[in-house]
Amino acid sequence: MAVIVQNTEIAGGIYRMWLAHAPQGNAGQFIMLRIPGALDPFLGRPISLFDSAGDELTLLYQVKGRGTAAFAGLPAGAPAEVQGPYGNGFPLVPGDAVVIGGGIGAAPLHLLVKQLRAAEPNRRVEVHLGFRGEAYAIEAFRAYADSVRVDIGGVVTDGVDFAQTAAYYACGPSPMLRAAAKAAGETGARLYVSLEKHMACGVGACLGCTCQTANGRKRVCRDGPVFDFREVADER
Ligand SMILES: Cc1cc2nc3c(=O)[nH]c(=O)nc-3n(C[C@H](O)[C@H](O)[C@H](O)COP(=O)(O)OP(=O)(O)OC[C@H]3O[C@@H](n4cnc5c(N)ncnc54)[C@H](O)[C@@H]3O)c2cc1C
Ligand code: FES
Repeated sequence: MAVIVQNTEIAGGIYRMWLAHAPQGNAGQFIMLRIPGALDPFLGRPISLFDSAGDELTLLYQVKGRGTAAFAGLPAGAPAEVQGPYGNGFPLVPGDAVVIGGGIGAAPLHLLVKQLRAAEPNRRVEVHLGFRGEAYAIEAFRAYADSVRVDIGGVVTDGVDFAQTAAYYACGPSPMLRAAAKAAGETGARLYVSLEKHMACGVGACLGCTCQTANGRKRVCRDGPVFDFREVADER
């Protein structure tokens, strides 16, 4: 059982939870987080790994409904049920990287930037983060990226050059992913997107999270959540 070390609101409705005695994982993977013994909500909620070091895990989450509101009320010292990590995670493609996040879609991208940097210290890692209002977690990205551009209230993909010889990674709302996919399609860029679906089991058993792909229907929790954007063109 993991233990909450800190659970703090860092921006309006955005929390950072620091867990001890938690499993390790890779960028783009997620855990199913649940309050032990809770009946409402009974099911865990998928939350990405924002950071992972030893047996400590950091999460960044936005309060959306009952589950995440309950997480926000948990004090330091409380136990937390952590299942996983699950999912395929982002591939760490050799060479330069461009990372694009929209809102809470930034959550899985911090560990990605950290792992890209560790795998190849001399590569260039460019980060673009878009927010509707208040920005958050920027300093955490600055620790590992060569540049971090923050866009407030605009279209974050407008500031991205998709013609570089880099791998592109994106996570955020569907319109943002569609814009990234359109631009990557025009330049032939290599783009990986992390998809969001409602998840009940998180392990591929309930088929509640399937999406249409070029290779038939796939489970976002087990076959994803990260896909080559060309494979999921019909889904977005
Ligand atoms: C692989 C994966 C990783 C995720 N990582 C993070 C993360 O790191 N941080 C974070 O804040 N959130 C993350 N999410 C989204 C998070 O799981 C949902 O916001 C959460 O499950 C909502 O639960 P709730 O009980 O608070 O809301 P509910 O009461 O279940 O729903 C509240 C509202 O949110 C909508 N909603 C619920 N789940 C989703 C979803 N998956 N996609 C779109 N709308 C949804 C509902 O339709 C409803 O309108 C991730 C989702 C996936 C699939
Ligand atoms: S959440 Fe059950 S199959 Fe994906």
